[in-house]
Amino acid sequence: MSVTAPERKRVRHPVPPAKWPTREEAARSRWFSPITLGTRLVAAERTWVPAMVPWRATDDGFVTQDVLDWYARFAEGQPGVLVVEATGIRDIPSGPLLRIGDDRFVPGLSRLVETVREASRGRTRIFIQIIDFLTVRRRPEPEKYFMRYLEVTDPLRVQLALWLDDKRWREAPEDEVRGFLREADRVTLETVLTDRELEALDYGYRERVWDLHLPWIRELPRVLPGLFAEAARRAQTAGFDGVELHYAHAYTMASFLSRLNTRTDGYGGTLPHRVRLPLAVLAAVRARVGPDYPVGIRYLGDEVVEGGSRVDDAVWFGIKFAEGGVDYLSVSKGGRFEDAKQPKIGEAVYPYTGESGYECMPTVLSDARGPFGRNVPLAAAIRRALRGAGHATPVVTSGGITTFEQAEGILERGEADCVAAARQSLADPDWFRKVRLGLGHLVRRCEFTNYCEGLDQRHKQVTCKLWDRKLDPTEPTVRLASDGKRRLLPPSWTAPSAD
Ligand SMILES: Cc1cc2nc3c(=O)[nH]c(=O)nc-3n(C[C@H](O)[C@H](O)[C@H](O)COP(=O)(O)O)c2cc1C
Ligand code: SF4
Repeated sequence: MSVTAPERKRVRHPVPPAKWPTREEAARSRWFSPITLGTRLVAAERTWVPAMVPWRATDDGFVTQDVLDWYARFAEGQPGVLVVEATGIRDIPSGPLLRIGDDRFVPGLSRLVETVREASRGRTRIFIQIIDFLTVRRRPEPEKYFMRYLEVTDPLRVQLALWLDDKRWREAPEDEVRGFLREADRVTLETVLTDRELEALDYGYRERVWDLHLPWIRELPRVLPGLFAEAARRAQTAGFDGVELHYAHAYTMASFLSRLNTRTDGYGGTLPHRVRLPLAVLAAVRARVGPDYPVGIRYLGDEVVEGGSRVDDAVWFGIKFAEGGVDYLSVSKGGRFEDAKQPKIGEAVYPYTGESGYECMPTVLSDARGPFGRNVPLAAAIRRALRGAGHATPVVTSGGITTFEQAEGILERGEADCVAAARQSLADPDWFRKVRLGLGHLVRRCEFTNYCEGLDQRHKQVTCKLWDRKLDPTEPTVRLASDGKRRLLPPSWTAPSAD
């Protein structure tokens, strides 16, 4: 049984102490040993920066100088693999998120690849995560919701007639229904509106993959394989070492895999039906990029929402993905909309605010288990099943990794093949390199209190609070975020000796 949020938040865990390896110990370690992804791509080490959205693209999705600087800074730390943020496969406006839905985005993405190659001195393999997502609207002003957005339907009129015990509501003009609802009390609203209409009022309108009454949702299985395949082809043209299909968290493909997916057209319900589109996308991508181009999948080991998929489902999907020819599986957890907190009026619901969100990016305010390496058992279960079925597919784990010993222990016990760190790499993008050079004592340790996630939630340029500890805003070389208060990039670091 899952622990309730208030109970969980009672324990504050210290960041675990670290015993850093010497340069020689690091050189002999598993974490700093090479791995092959796909048929021939070799990553020099099993260190990994998973996708993180920094909110630095242009409003129409192009790579900016800030995007280049952000990834260059991560590349200087020379991780084995660096995965570029979730990048939209459609050619539709989506705010300052990177996009790959048209060939016009390719030149900028090529520059990004070159920048990472140069900054890592050819040591880091660069992947790009490609994503589809459905419409999520901001929570409306109630006045606007009733007077403009709510669809006044005959069933709604019937509900009103029943509740008010007055048949005339069955024929009531639209304006009258709207005006009545605008003034109605909560009990009335909860009685006459459907769950989805109430949700649209309280949280903002949000589409589901099982909204088969919407033609564009019905068409997803026809449309998405081609969109993902074209996006992957562009990634290949731009020079990325591989592509990662985003099947995790709150987005379209994760929702197809979800136990909550009740589509009745052969793409929902049973396990084989839920995995059907994700496999079709994988096959379409593979057909477009060829047998040797690395294609990974990031997906959920556990959705952590009531009625959602659990590790058993994830194990089953993992084997299907391996049979479908995926080159690695990166296992995440939670981050769903279903249990997200109610947003303020004018803001959009954020999938990392509920219990499932906590599990995706756990903080030091935790239950007895604490946030560190908390998701490893999911990756371990998937890897065990893969090996049992004869698949050598590499498995990547992430979530609360902050020391060399943690990572090395995970690899030693065969719980994963690569160990990723998002927030620790954000706190100190040089950390992998520092550890490899025997300079672990210089690592700036993440505090796991999620200041960065709060910025992501508000769609503000993501930075780490630790970067500003020595900030002098008047120093001319320091570039500041658009609010003028924070460093846009981590402080620079120069290794004392060549490597
Ligand atoms: C600011 C921020 C943005 C993120 N963006 C993405 C994303 O684009 N795609 C993704 O799969 N995960 C994303 N994540 C989740 C991380 O990749 C990672 O799974 C999570 O932070 C847990 O790992 P950690 O404990 O090492 O931070 C993001 C995390 C943060 C903090
Ligand atoms: S802001 Fe906090 S949680 Fe985020 S990377 Fe920095 S120290 Fe870690």
